[in-house]
Amino acid sequence: MNLYPLTLFLFVSTICCLRAAAATCHVDDESGLLGFKSGITADPSGMLGSWKSSTDCCTWSGVTCNNNRVTSLSLYGDLDKANSFLSGIIAPSLSKLRFLDGLYLQNLRNVSGKFPAFLSNLPNLLFVYIENNRISGQIPESIGNMTRLEALSFAGNRLSGSIPSSISQLTQLTQLKLGKNLLTGPVPDGIRRLKNLTMLSLEDNQLTGNIPDFFASFSSLQILELSRNKFSGTIPTSISTLAAKLRYLELGHNYLTGKIPDFLGNFKALDTLDLSSNRFSGTVPTSFRNLTKIFNLHLSNNFLVDPFPEMNVKGIESLDLSNNMFHLKEIPKWVTSSPIIYSLKLAKCGIKMKLDDWKPSETYFYDYIDLSGNEISGSPIWLLNKTDYLVGFWMSGNKLRFNLENLRIVETLKYLDLSRNSVFGKIPKAIAGLDKLNVSYNHLCGQIPTNKFPASAFIGNDCLCGSPLQPCKA
Ligand SMILES: *[C@@H]1O[C@H](CO)[C@@H](O)[C@H](O)[C@H]1NC(C)=O
Ligand SMILES: *[C@@H]1O[C@H](CO)[C@@H](O)[C@H](O)[C@H]1NC(C)=O
Ligand SMILES: *[C@@H]1O[C@H](CO)[C@@H](O)[C@H](O)[C@H]1NC(C)=O
Ligand SMILES: *[C@@H]1O[C@H](CO)[C@@H](O)[C@H](O)[C@H]1NC(C)=O
Ligand SMILES: *[C@@H]1O[C@H](CO)[C@@H](O)[C@H](O)[C@H]1NC(C)=O
Ligand SMILES: *[C@@H]1O[C@H](CO)[C@@H](O)[C@H](O)[C@H]1NC(C)=O
Repeated sequence: MNLYPLTLFLFVSTICCLRAAAATCHVDDESGLLGFKSGITADPSGMLGSWKSSTDCCTWSGVTCNNNRVTSLSLYGDLDKANSFLSGIIAPSLSKLRFLDGLYLQNLRNVSGKFPAFLSNLPNLLFVYIENNRISGQIPESIGNMTRLEALSFAGNRLSGSIPSSISQLTQLTQLKLGKNLLTGPVPDGIRRLKNLTMLSLEDNQLTGNIPDFFASFSSLQILELSRNKFSGTIPTSISTLAAKLRYLELGHNYLTGKIPDFLGNFKALDTLDLSSNRFSGTVPTSFRNLTKIFNLHLSNNFLVDPFPEMNVKGIESLDLSNNMFHLKEIPKWVTSSPIIYSLKLAKCGIKMKLDDWKPSETYFYDYIDLSGNEISGSPIWLLNKTDYLVGFWMSGNKLRFNLENLRIVETLKYLDLSRNSVFGKIPKAIAGLDKLNVSYNHLCGQIPTNKFPASAFIGNDCLCGSPLQPCKA
């Protein structure tokens, strides 16, 4: 009997099965990924170091496979590391990855080029997060045929032009994030067709027109971010239909007018409300007493008037009511009693008190305190002795009277403004570590320690001398 064919058969089948066990990725996927790599011109941190041809691409960093086909590509830059970036473009060869369902290219900072319209050729693609890169140009109309997409984010790029109306065809989207770009024009009304949205985030663009009155469509919306655009008009009434689920409502830094609607008090799940830097007028609705779970309330820089409602909130984390027409007289009790507050901004809020009489239940978490432009007297020495992580302390234009030499300047402190008070004594050496300082128009005296601040930070005192003011007399 001739054994040769059997041996050959065993030999061939061994090769076959060893190959299968080694689970090498599909040739199309490998060449698609290598094509992507060749579009990258700089990779100083070696993110793609493991991407070598004729090694199994399923083992390459950032690559995930299922049944030997690449299903996701995830590359993340570390914003804290200067060399953690990629330069280059997103090569069209990625459209060879027929089984790709997720593409995550985040914080890579220097990936540029046009909107990768070829992604519409990928039949299985569901999740696209190309965030904090430098993708520029317009969003193409052809985006409308990526109808299976469940999440689309191009936040933090340089996209310009208007949002194409074809976006209304992406009806499976649960997240649409186009914030921090250069987009112009109105919000297309067709977005009302994206009924599955839980997040609509278009902040920090140059969008114009009214905020569309289309919110009755969105029964699952939890996050609505439209801050830092050029929206005008009033808050649309259909926003009231989001009362049960909305957690973040951010409309700050626009040109919105009218009153703050009463219905916002019914927003049971609201965590963050930002209406700052608009043109809202009238009072803050008393219904706000029902916002028991709100953590972040930002209403600064509007034309709001008294009375401010007594809130029922358990613990506010950040509050900014600055620069309205309030006369709060004191720091509200629901602020003083908060066990978790880290940012308190009540500039020009008509507060008349002695700072020493303020007895906050917690000071440990404070990062920012801005009480500028009030009538606050006394001394902050005890307060700054208890705020171990303070970053900014703004108190200009009050009636503080204390010896600056006794003020503790913690290492975390970067911004200190005590201008236009009655602070006396000498300036401590520790100011050298600050990023910004202003002690102008007080009663300080003596030699200014080594510093990097302009003369306007020191002028208007009784007898300060030394750089940047005139030299001290020997
Ligand atoms: C960022 O990308 C641009 C265009 O590809 C390139 O000219 C530039 O050198 C890159 N920057 C760095 C820091 O690599
Ligand atoms: C998507 O639309 C573009 C332009 O309208 C077209 O060229 C492309 O073939 C379309 N892709 C699919 C998958 O329909
Ligand atoms: C969108 O909503 C419909 C109806 O509620 C649901 O059947 C579908 O699964 C949702 N799609 C996604 C991607 O969540
Ligand atoms: C707070 O909510 C309750 C019930 O949900 C309602 O009866 C009450 O009028 C609301 N309070 C204010 C001040 O709107
Ligand atoms: C600052 O705090 C320390 C201990 O935490 C205490 O000994 C000291 O007396 C305090 N100084 C002032 C001025 O309150
Ligand atoms: C310091 O404050 C004064 C008065 O508030 C202001 O005129 C001056 O420009 C400020 N200087 C700096 C460096 O902030």
